[in-house]
Amino acid sequence: MCGIVGYIGNKKASLVVLEALKNVEYRGYDSAGIAVLNSSIQIIKDVGKLAEIEKKHNFSSLEGTIGMGHTRWATHGGVNSMNAHPHTDESGEICLVHNGIIENFQTLREKLQKAGCKFRSETDTELMAHLISLELKKAKDFKGAFLSALQKIEGSFSFVVMHKGEQKLYGARKSSPLIIGVGKNEMFFASDMPAVLSHTRDFVFLQENEAAEITKEGYEIYSLSGAKISRAPTHVDWTPQMAQKEGYAHFMIKEISEQQNSIRNVLATDVTSAAKLLKKSKYISIIACGTSYHAALLFKLRLANYGFRSDVVIGSEYSTPPGSLQAQVVDKNTVVVAISQSGETADTLSAVRFAKTKGARIIGITNVIGSSLSREADSCIYTGAGPEISVVATKSFTSQVAILYMLAAVCAGENINEIKEKIRDLSAVIEAVISKDKEINDISAELSKHEDFFFIGRGAAHPVAMEGALKLKEITYLHAEAYAAGELKHGPLSLLEEGIPVIVIAPQNAGNVFKIISSIKECNARGAFIVGISDSDAVLEECNLKFKMPDCPTLFEAIAYTIPLQLLAYHMAIKLDKDPDKPRNLAKSVTVE
Ligand code: AGP
Repeated sequence: MCGIVGYIGNKKASLVVLEALKNVEYRGYDSAGIAVLNSSIQIIKDVGKLAEIEKKHNFSSLEGTIGMGHTRWATHGGVNSMNAHPHTDESGEICLVHNGIIENFQTLREKLQKAGCKFRSETDTELMAHLISLELKKAKDFKGAFLSALQKIEGSFSFVVMHKGEQKLYGARKSSPLIIGVGKNEMFFASDMPAVLSHTRDFVFLQENEAAEITKEGYEIYSLSGAKISRAPTHVDWTPQMAQKEGYAHFMIKEISEQQNSIRNVLATDVTSAAKLLKKSKYISIIACGTSYHAALLFKLRLANYGFRSDVVIGSEYSTPPGSLQAQVVDKNTVVVAISQSGETADTLSAVRFAKTKGARIIGITNVIGSSLSREADSCIYTGAGPEISVVATKSFTSQVAILYMLAAVCAGENINEIKEKIRDLSAVIEAVISKDKEINDISAELSKHEDFFFIGRGAAHPVAMEGALKLKEITYLHAEAYAAGELKHGPLSLLEEGIPVIVIAPQNAGNVFKIISSIKECNARGAFIVGISDSDAVLEECNLKFKMPDCPTLFEAIAYTIPLQLLAYHMAIKLDKDPDKPRNLAKSVTVE
């Protein structure tokens, strides 16, 4: 939700933190700030994206080798510079950044105000600085004050805290990610690995209700009651280049273009132990949000194809009373498949935790090593797509679907080598689609004159249509809805007006080409403007604009047909002068419910 970073070492902290913040800016970008500790704590913070703030303020004027920074996605308090992080106590000697929500904020704020604390912002975060300051009057040292303040707050948090006069930084986490980057004579706190990959590839993943302190030389982890915990760093094979644009204009187009390779990483994935777990279940419950939800819908269809029944539930709806279906049916014979690129989506995690209370076993599908989902699942499969920086999911989706299809196939006893061969073919298909990017760009030129869009498909093409519509909405701010093609006549047709673009996703192997042609004719009769994405000449003949898909292994059509839709959304965003990497109001990782 927000990006947080801390640095202690020999380098100029403001510059290290600034660079690291740029790498986590996808977590939130309505305001940002940096604090550096020298003889006093100096802070620069303001509203806007980092690039805008850099034009107004000189971060490098902050001298010192201990620093922290924050990029905000507002929850408590409007978007203004007072609410931007870092926040301090009244003395200015305790300074902190925070990701999460303090749920007992109102009660604590009133208590602190009664105790004489003067608040300068509307945030929940600021109270933590005052709280530590009050605790410091009672505790024997700063660490003790920090821990007892942590015990008084409810909700989710990751914090990085500095205290004037101490050559260390403190951190803590609960339901919000925080990792330690272990360097040589330098240490880092960060929300996630891409922040500091250019400095280190050795990470310690803090777990629920853990706190830590870092100095130049090392780190110490402890529970919130102060008991020491020993944990060695994990070496990751992500490279710094993976988290850079490498000459591309945006991360989104870089990540779309990477898919012919990222899909091949799936070949090295072993899904056998997850498949064993899944086969033992009496009920399969699939949980996800957003784009991962579309992958979940495709998984359900694939499982059904092999004769396995399952349900897909949006994370935030899983345990919502009254009458949550899941509350009735999830039990110890249930296996939950939770799908999350970040592995930190609060709605998905909360559904997983609910299912666990019912005795269910969990298979986690995530792209982020050490994420909460990877730790809380009984069996975890990494999607291996590499860091995904753009707020919109692209390569993580196609890898999720490929992994889930492999998992379903292994459960059904299919020949895995044949599946893998098809993934190799799919990689070539993705390359072929991307090489026809100019055609998509031309289509986007026509479509960017419009404001409302229909996406339609049948069978597996329906979740693909949903994904195409979501991509377009997220980054162009235009209205797009996806429908099962056959459903149009049951209501949505009344919305069709002369010239409204209908994007038809129609692989001919999906069968029933004549039915999708009927749907196209229904739209045509009402004056719609049809854009066809198909390998079928019969379908394309009915369309005003056409994108001819190359031949593709039938099993993986859903993946191949997603690529032109990603490209379409990207080119339209560029034509409409929108930033595809940082869409308004959104953040990559939604760590609040
Ligand atoms: C995708 O483009 C979105 N940014 C969003 O829908 C995302 O897929 C959703 O928030 C779930 O994220 P997760 O996969 O990290 O759980």
